Amino acid sequence: MARPTTTFTCTACGAGHARWSGRCDACGAWNTIQEEAPLSAGPAGRSLGARRGAAIALTDLATEEAPPPRTCTGLAELDRVLGGGLVPSSAVLVGGDPGIGKSTLLLQAAARFAGAGLKTLYVSGEEASAQVRMRAQRLGLENAPVRLAAATGLRDILTTLDTERPDLVIIDSIQTMWSDTIDSAPGSVAQVRAAAHELTGYAKRRGASVILVGHVTKDGQIAGPRVVEHMVDCVLYFEGERGHQFRILRSVKNRFGPADEIGVFEMTGRGLAEVANPSALFLAGRGAPAPGSVVFAGIEGTRPLLVEVQALVAPTPHAQPRRAVVGWDGARLAMILAVLEARCAIPFAGFDVYLNVAGGLRISEPAADLAVAAALLSAREDVALAPETVVFGEISLSGALRPVGQTENRLKEARKLGFTSAILPSDDKTGGQSGLSLTRMGDLTAFVGDVFGA
Ligand code: TYD
Ligand code: MG
Repeated sequence: MARPTTTFTCTACGAGHARWSGRCDACGAWNTIQEEAPLSAGPAGRSLGARRGAAIALTDLATEEAPPPRTCTGLAELDRVLGGGLVPSSAVLVGGDPGIGKSTLLLQAAARFAGAGLKTLYVSGEEASAQVRMRAQRLGLENAPVRLAAATGLRDILTTLDTERPDLVIIDSIQTMWSDTIDSAPGSVAQVRAAAHELTGYAKRRGASVILVGHVTKDGQIAGPRVVEHMVDCVLYFEGERGHQFRILRSVKNRFGPADEIGVFEMTGRGLAEVANPSALFLAGRGAPAPGSVVFAGIEGTRPLLVEVQALVAPTPHAQPRRAVVGWDGARLAMILAVLEARCAIPFAGFDVYLNVAGGLRISEPAADLAVAAALLSAREDVALAPETVVFGEISLSGALRPVGQTENRLKEARKLGFTSAILPSDDKTGGQSGLSLTRMGDLTAFVGDVFGA
């Protein structure tokens, strides 16, 4: 077996050296070279420790230099989802269905990051450089100082990274990358994992950030972005309905900021545009108050968001009535229907039920329970709710209404958009200063009686 030659590594730049010296001639840093036990020194697990794994006291860390600041793109919707800008040396995964707009978003982000002073390299494994350039032209970004590379081989990419030394690398997409040390097809779990591991590892060693694009795949042939979620600091999903212009960037994991934050974009002919006031957008085209339509005052991440919940309840000729849901949880709908039936004696057995969250948004907050119940009742009784009213509250299995968080924020947003009244759980004592006329309800039965006179 060949004797390993590299046993000293610079902790600043990761360069290998044959012997110790006071200064790393690769990056010029002083006193950063440390001895590393070569991996081939013995059977795995027996070789004694690399210096980098050594433990130090948490309190000692505080005295070290403060980390460099986050970089903002100036696209507020993106910066917020990242937790307030891109953290240096972080790994971010952006997942989404093919064709949803990931490449568009990241090319725009690349131009912004480059403009903010990060040396940015965009590696496309799917499109040739000329195609990326054409897209950039369409987006009006052809003069952005972004470096481009079209490659899929990991070895080529690592070599490029070595010469380019970017601060930010965007890999579009992780499923097209392949390593020749792994004996399986590009897109397989082993390849995707290995590529993500190599790229994030390399970037972190060099103090660069890396953004990996991952297609959400429907068939089992190609590994999806989930297989690398645990390897990255921040996981964002880019969602939206094909027929709609709105796109939502949602953080599902973020080591440096709040999860569940969303950014709202609109796909235009010249790329993605920020939507600064999403409530207005989601409520646009609502028209006159109609039975089955209820406005829910929700919170997505740290931001209030008003959305319209629509229900249709129609008599069915079938023994098995249909329950169809778009934008909400089907199991939660079944629960609300069961509570209405058991606690308020309002049966839905002979009816098909359709529930839709307008605008292509997906909501997961239990606070939407009351809005859903209101929409269902309003549709079933064919009675429209009072106009300019927002609704929120969680429903428990007993039929009681439970208070939810951030009432003040919900009401403030409602007032901003011209709503005049709100229906909310009575245990919630906050919100008195909102300027809205508040109707507080203790349980679902009271709600049914008061609002629908049933
Ligand atoms: P793309 O970013 O290629 O999707 P992904 O990388 O997630 O697969 O986006 C493709 C769609 O976006 C395509 O249907 C065309 C549309 N699009 C616009 O509507 N406007 C634009 O300016 C651009 C670049 C794309
Ligand atoms: Mg793409």
